[in-house]
Amino acid sequence: MTTPTWNADSLRRLVQREIGDYRLVVVSNRQPYIHELIEGKLRYVVPAGGLTTALDPLMQECGGTWVAYGGGKGDWYAVDERNRIAVPPDDPQYTLRLVWLTEEQEKGYYYGFSNEALWPLCHNAYTEPVFDAEDWQTYQAVNEEFANQVLDEIDGQPAAVFTQDYHLALLPRRLREADPDIITGQFWHIPWPNPEIFRICPWQTELLDGLLGNDLLGFHIGDHCNNFLETVSRTIDSRVDLDFSLISHHNEPTLVRPFPISVDFEDVCQSAASPYVTDEMERLSDELGLNGMVVGLGIDRIDYTKGIPHRFRAMGRFLEKNPEYIGKVVFVQAGVMSRTSIDAYQQLAEQIDGLLEEINTRFAVRDWKPIIYLPTDLPNVSLLALRRLAQFCVVSSLHDGMNLVAKEYVASRFDEDGVLILSPFTGAAHELTDALIVNPYATEHFADAILEAVEMPYEERRTRMVRMRSIVRENNIYKWAARLLVELMQGARRARRPIRNH
Ligand code: G6P
Repeated sequence: MTTPTWNADSLRRLVQREIGDYRLVVVSNRQPYIHELIEGKLRYVVPAGGLTTALDPLMQECGGTWVAYGGGKGDWYAVDERNRIAVPPDDPQYTLRLVWLTEEQEKGYYYGFSNEALWPLCHNAYTEPVFDAEDWQTYQAVNEEFANQVLDEIDGQPAAVFTQDYHLALLPRRLREADPDIITGQFWHIPWPNPEIFRICPWQTELLDGLLGNDLLGFHIGDHCNNFLETVSRTIDSRVDLDFSLISHHNEPTLVRPFPISVDFEDVCQSAASPYVTDEMERLSDELGLNGMVVGLGIDRIDYTKGIPHRFRAMGRFLEKNPEYIGKVVFVQAGVMSRTSIDAYQQLAEQIDGLLEEINTRFAVRDWKPIIYLPTDLPNVSLLALRRLAQFCVVSSLHDGMNLVAKEYVASRFDEDGVLILSPFTGAAHELTDALIVNPYATEHFADAILEAVEMPYEERRTRMVRMRSIVRENNIYKWAARLLVELMQGARRARRPIRNH
């Protein structure tokens, strides 16, 4: 007998059963709806990135409060006197509560410690982390501020607080110190490095102590869990039970588990099939000159972990080795600029521009060029249209916790066509084994994978896509949330009984 696929209804029932009287509070740095003031009018935008893509549909089903940084210019005008706003703005389902930070705080905590220290520390992309003592102080202060806001929000009531990501590693410990009855879970959306790498961080003990304030700590894949368990066992005074993936620190247990994140498969699939998307496909084909071309696609936040220069180089090498495809294959790279005030991101933007110029100049014929670069925030309808137009989609991350772009491509292809070229250094490669798995550093292999994707017969494309779709359909975002919630609530209830020695 097969188990039914998780969906919004089954998750809602599970939440009611498991959460009971507890209040559900999600905390993250990035908010799901950013309000901007455009020509004096309040408008909202939905940010790019896996975290909000995955959690918003869940909050819409589960209700509760999401606490996040109010970074939009219009946020202040959108909230009530308790800094709250009901979202989604067009069809409110849950509460968003915003935390205000000064420009200095944002600089030290978000751009500084989170994205110049922790981000490169956790990704093997060979960008050196910057450990600045002032940034670290600001990071601590901002985590404290988030904790105060969460405590104010729950106001002494029974609550389960589900913290997101690397911006808030110290939050769970602060919550536990304030009220040990709060159930604390955290999901780390990026990789966890091995202990050899992590130990270069001057504040490794404090970060680990913060994270061990959680009843449950989730990573995307088993390798990241193992890296974390090993890091803890080498770094701080604790008992680490590798068989149960359980850490005991100050006599308090933290369960460490893999939960591969995913997308709302049915929703993406249905949206992709809408007639608006078909119209948009026509419009984009005309505008970008894609008619009659084999289209390749990349959609990313412009980040040095995504291997964008590597795929451009592979595209150049593919054309060099297979000149018969000049004028016939075009690669569209879409994506939003990100964290642009950080040096490493500015350097990446320059590197991308340089490569683009070089490859496009070298291979251009009449009005055809091999790479079309669209570094703008495209609406969802355009992204869906591009996914449907693309015979192959490239995800060439140098290191990535999961990578939801890969799963979104698969979910969008209701026509069961299309080839995914996928880096083995993504969490997604553990599930999507029917992709063409290729090391982004190996330009020669990468170029050959592009050729294989271009020439793959329809029957093989279909067989692979059908298998990948059934995996993403089954392991959807609702299953991710359901498994996490059950482990969190049941583990925390067990832990609140006296702990026995193993
Ligand atoms: C990654 C992180 C998320 C983050 C997203 C977008 O996926 O794990 O926490 O929200 O990138 O980055 P940004 O810095 O714009 O929030």
